[in-house]
Amino acid sequence: MPDAPSSRGWTSPSASEPQELAGVPSEERGRISLRYREMDRVLGGGLVPGSVALFAGEPGVGKSTLLLQAADFVAAKGVKVLYVSGEESEQQIKLRSNRLGLSGRGIYLLAETDVDQIIHQLEERLPGLVVIDSIQTLSTAEASSGPGSVTQVRECALRLMRWAKARGTPVLLAGHVTKDGTLAGPRVLEHMVDVVLYLEGENLGAHRLLRSVKNRFGSTNEVAMFRMGDGGLEEVSDPSKALLEERGQGAVGSAVVSVLEGSRPLLVEIQALTSPSALPVPRRTANGVDYNRMIMITAVLARRARLSLANQDIIVNVAGGLRVSEPGADLGMALAIASSFRNQPIKPGLVAIGEVGLSGELRSAPQTDRRLAEAARLGFSSCVLPAWARGKIPATTGLELVYAPTLGEAMRLSLERRSGKGGVAEESELANLEKLEE
Ligand SMILES: Nc1ncnc2c1ncn2[C@@H]1O[C@H](COP(=O)(O)OP(=O)(O)OP(=O)(O)O)[C@@H](O)[C@H]1O
Ligand SMILES: [Mg+2]
Repeated sequence: MPDAPSSRGWTSPSASEPQELAGVPSEERGRISLRYREMDRVLGGGLVPGSVALFAGEPGVGKSTLLLQAADFVAAKGVKVLYVSGEESEQQIKLRSNRLGLSGRGIYLLAETDVDQIIHQLEERLPGLVVIDSIQTLSTAEASSGPGSVTQVRECALRLMRWAKARGTPVLLAGHVTKDGTLAGPRVLEHMVDVVLYLEGENLGAHRLLRSVKNRFGSTNEVAMFRMGDGGLEEVSDPSKALLEERGQGAVGSAVVSVLEGSRPLLVEIQALTSPSALPVPRRTANGVDYNRMIMITAVLARRARLSLANQDIIVNVAGGLRVSEPGADLGMALAIASSFRNQPIKPGLVAIGEVGLSGELRSAPQTDRRLAEAARLGFSSCVLPAWARGKIPATTGLELVYAPTLGEAMRLSLERRSGKGGVAEESELANLEKLEE
């Protein structure tokens, strides 16, 4: 009897007999929009019915805010939403809802932490969307360990998932993340749920990034940007512009790269600072770029472009708190370091795209045309590219394309020569480099 109550309070009504795939009804129900176009895009086009999505983030980053705003949007379309809070009382949620200017119509609050009680309520009310804030506060009497433990979190998530699949109702879970950026308690949660999104805000000021790290119904590494204000989270529809807003023109050690975050090109400023080190082993600091990548680029600059970086402290920073992890940003990072070391700014209006190889050669980055289009849209006038890309890019980018086979050549084409002194580099070194490349 599928509907008989089990020791677990509720059993899925779906038959557990094998079904031929061909015979499974392809009941394609529409995806559900969660208010923000950007968030829908990160989800792969909205929330899939019956899916379980985890919104993970550090304390205070805005998970509850985002979920309540999304819940209100869905409820306003006539869908019944059950908002389960194990952390806040109804009054506290009401306060937030007032602050965000939400009507609250169609949202039913349940302050409960016992997952079996919650499932009982879900069966009674059959909502069209469920929000659980947060999964770590739930527990079941059948597991002996405390709330937040691996066993409890897994068991509670499993029950909610079974319910979601059986009823075809989407469930949004808020999940806490520890300081080192991993999901508190179990990583196993990431394997179970359909979608894992991270809401990040560290070093971003009022900006928040929503990043998909797992998606069974869409591509991963999609990023959406939000801004936290009095009225809650608003989406930033032009993140490249927001990221470059505070950039100083003609600054030494600053390069703009066009990177791909998921399917979207994004313009990001990479800054570098080199200064003579007082330490026996000079310091290398990487904020927002991969440390090993930076060490590699530094080594290539030293060996292939003859920059005497061995006694320099080097700091590389991605402005705006973003993390850049793709090789297409290599050239920009290298140019930023070279620019600081030589005290020569990068030519105004120039963007860099390309990967740097160990022998100093430049390689193309995927989807260069889309990256160029983004640069052109934001008013950049030229782009330094690997020579390999020549002839492979549609002519209509609107940018002046500067091709360089090597890093040394790219440096010569991208850095502005200053007549004044101040940089570590001397004319003799430049002459050296020119000889080296002939
Ligand atoms: N009155 C306010 N005006 C503007 N922003 C506010 C106000 N109150 C709170 N916030 C913002 O909301 C954030 C808290 O959001 P929220 O409670 O949604 O975070 P959370 O991720 O759910 O946190 P927790 O992990 O504690 O549940 C604060 O960090 C702050 O930026
Ligand atoms: Mg919260």
